[in-house]
Amino acid sequence: MPGKDFLDPVWTVWRERVADHLDRILPVTADQPGLLHSAMRYSTLAVGKRFRAALVYAAGRYTGAAESALDVPACAVEMVHTFSLIHDDLPAMDDDDLRRGQPTCHKAFDEATAILAGDALQALAFELLTSDSALTVDAERRLEMCQILASAVGTRGLAGGQALDLTESSDITMESLANMHALKTGSLIRASVALGALTGSADETTLDHLDKFADAIGLAYQVIDDVLDGTVSTDVLGKDSGSDRNADKSTYLTELGEQNAREFAQNLHERAISSLDSLSMNTRLLRELAGFTIYRTH
Ligand code: IPE
Ligand code: IPE
Ligand code: MG
Ligand code: MG
Ligand code: MG
Repeated sequence: MPGKDFLDPVWTVWRERVADHLDRILPVTADQPGLLHSAMRYSTLAVGKRFRAALVYAAGRYTGAAESALDVPACAVEMVHTFSLIHDDLPAMDDDDLRRGQPTCHKAFDEATAILAGDALQALAFELLTSDSALTVDAERRLEMCQILASAVGTRGLAGGQALDLTESSDITMESLANMHALKTGSLIRASVALGALTGSADETTLDHLDKFADAIGLAYQVIDDVLDGTVSTDVLGKDSGSDRNADKSTYLTELGEQNAREFAQNLHERAISSLDSLSMNTRLLRELAGFTIYRTH
């Protein structure tokens, strides 16, 4: 198993940093509508791995971006991610009760509030990218960043992947499964790397290599999510274990079995690492984040 000794302390700092910023940016519960603000804060500030924020900071560090500027896209991707989790857990979707070690948003509040909290988090992410002055890039770059995030969340990204997930049939092909996973999870992971890299300065070739890296780890992240759903307890996951099995979903675990699914993820990991080979910069943090993608235990 590749180490993450270099990454661990840095990631701990990033995790605290993005949580502090989210806390400051999210609307306070004393302001109306307090219930909505409370739901947004409840789900976003709950303990998450902040993997997507870490990708923003790591990609940005390698393209020379200031951390104070990276806080903005890091918060934006974590807000969009939290929105996707809140909606994913709704009764109309996966109908889950536990998320990040606490009752899901619609259980702690109510369905309407959970839907609105997701909507408002997504909108706030774009508001940050368009107008937060800590993001020291020009207007054209802001526009490019908004376009990348929008397409990652839309029908050719997260929402499209979630729609395919809801209508998947039991005789799904491996190609369709990979496409669905790349869309529902890979898209936001790719956008996280791109937004980080674009906060600094990178040429097209570098951006292209980073995108190939992100594409491979994005799919691997969901392959391992499928494996963990069927093999790790609810206590460790902090979310309902066996949710896919209970919903009779086709996943990498049901289609390939644990060993082959892990081997598939391992191949994706190798592909991700080789995408970084030709980059002249030190990519150790990104390589260790790729390792985490496949060796994570929750
Ligand atoms: C869970 O994501 C949903 C997927 C897209 C796989 P994470 O496992 O990164 O969730 P948190 O942010 O740590 O709660
Ligand atoms: C969710 O996939 C992908 C999202 C866009 C949220 P899952 O439904 O497998 O995620 P978990 O297992 O509930 O976190
Ligand atoms: Mg789901
Ligand atoms: Mg789910
Ligand atoms: Mg899952």
